[in-house]
Amino acid sequence: MSFPWAKHYEPKAPFMRWIDEKLPLPRLVYNAIGGGYPVPRNLNYMWNFGVLAGFCLVLQIVTGVILAMHYAANAAVAFDSTEHIMRDVNWGWLMRYAHANGASAFFVVVYLHIFRGFFYSSYKAPREMVWLLGVVIFLLMMATGFMGYVLPWGQMSYWGAKVITGLFGAIPVVGEPIQIWLLGGYAPDNAALNRFFSLHFLLPFVIAGVIILHIWALHIPGSSNPTGVEVKSESDTLPFHPYYTAKDGFGLGVFLILYFAMVFFFPNSLGHPDNYIPANPLSTPAHIVPEWYYWPFYAILRAFTVDFFFVPAKLMGVLAMFSAILVWFFLPWLDKSPVRSGHYRPMFRKFFWVLVIDVLVLGYCGGSPAEEPFVMISQLATAYYFLHFLVILPIVSSIERPEPLPFSITEAVLGSDDKAVLGESKA
Ligand code: HEM
Repeated sequence: MSFPWAKHYEPKAPFMRWIDEKLPLPRLVYNAIGGGYPVPRNLNYMWNFGVLAGFCLVLQIVTGVILAMHYAANAAVAFDSTEHIMRDVNWGWLMRYAHANGASAFFVVVYLHIFRGFFYSSYKAPREMVWLLGVVIFLLMMATGFMGYVLPWGQMSYWGAKVITGLFGAIPVVGEPIQIWLLGGYAPDNAALNRFFSLHFLLPFVIAGVIILHIWALHIPGSSNPTGVEVKSESDTLPFHPYYTAKDGFGLGVFLILYFAMVFFFPNSLGHPDNYIPANPLSTPAHIVPEWYYWPFYAILRAFTVDFFFVPAKLMGVLAMFSAILVWFFLPWLDKSPVRSGHYRPMFRKFFWVLVIDVLVLGYCGGSPAEEPFVMISQLATAYYFLHFLVILPIVSSIERPEPLPFSITEAVLGSDDKAVLGESKA
């Protein structure tokens, strides 16, 4: 952070001075989340979700490591070992419910974090790298969540693994060998379960590493804010501590109330009852559905029902599903508007809400059986999804006339800014 008015760390206690001389870790923390990190003074609650996402990752790692002490990654006993955790291990039920609902909470928080980014165009320069690393984190989260769901080795675990690894079979020529290589066999079994467990344990630490890069990249330009106007002077900022530690602390309190309400009162409401039936390769469930957080992408996958010349429908579905996330990588360049915040972009704002509805519709269809009218609705919603990013956004951002922006963050908050009155440049 290169703000000239950022406070410098001066350890007062002799012990802290000693540590800081040998290893400047206290300095690093002070500059990252202490008084040494000035933050725009007008951040609203949508800026709470980054810290909450970090909290969710820690929660998942702590509960996951404890579960791993009692779980057995062997297809013969995986289901029973999960039930053993629920019934015999002290507080095992709590660890499992905390972890399973923690995954859902993590995705709720990250989806809100991403859609905050869409509305306030947080992906725009100079924060492109923050955004690109965020998309990498999201892809890693998707992979981690998928492999975690396989571990209890219930019916949905097994058939989910079968469907998703089967997608690789859609790739021409090399698809089937890749699928067999991924599974370590012709169908999900012990080899697949073991490697999924190993990777499910590893990936959260990879995610933690990418988060460090994400926050490092953010701290170079500093946070954006609801006006999208960059910080101009000290009066536009507040030190992170105590102002945003307090605001994030309040957000964390609200989050914990909602999260524990789920864990203690509705722990299975987001899970599928079929996953309490042991995996049976000879009995296919009537509807194979992934966890709710994959539903919009699952709907896109299933929206392709007819072959297009030489390209099989399944391959197009797979490509579309991955492209639905990969298109986010190009957002900083697809949105050409000089203005960031949706508050000052009347057309963009309307289309943002249409996109929200479109993704909710996709989500609903993804969780419904693959039959009419859901297939047709998925097809329309999929078409709109890509239309939004590839056509509407570039056109709207080029032609719309944004509303007047405030001179500065201070003016937006206080109604006036001495610097604006003195006629200082808007640079
Ligand atoms: C485990 C997942 C994640 C963690 C822990 C995390 C953490 C954070 C934190 C702490 C911040 C600063 C506070 C805030 O602005 O809310 C932040 C900002 C940001 N994040 Fe993430 N993030 C995660 C995932 C993502 C994803 C998936 C994306 C996008 C695809 C993303 C995009 C951004 C952007 C663009 C900013 C800058 C926002 C601004 O200043 O306007 N993040 N992130």
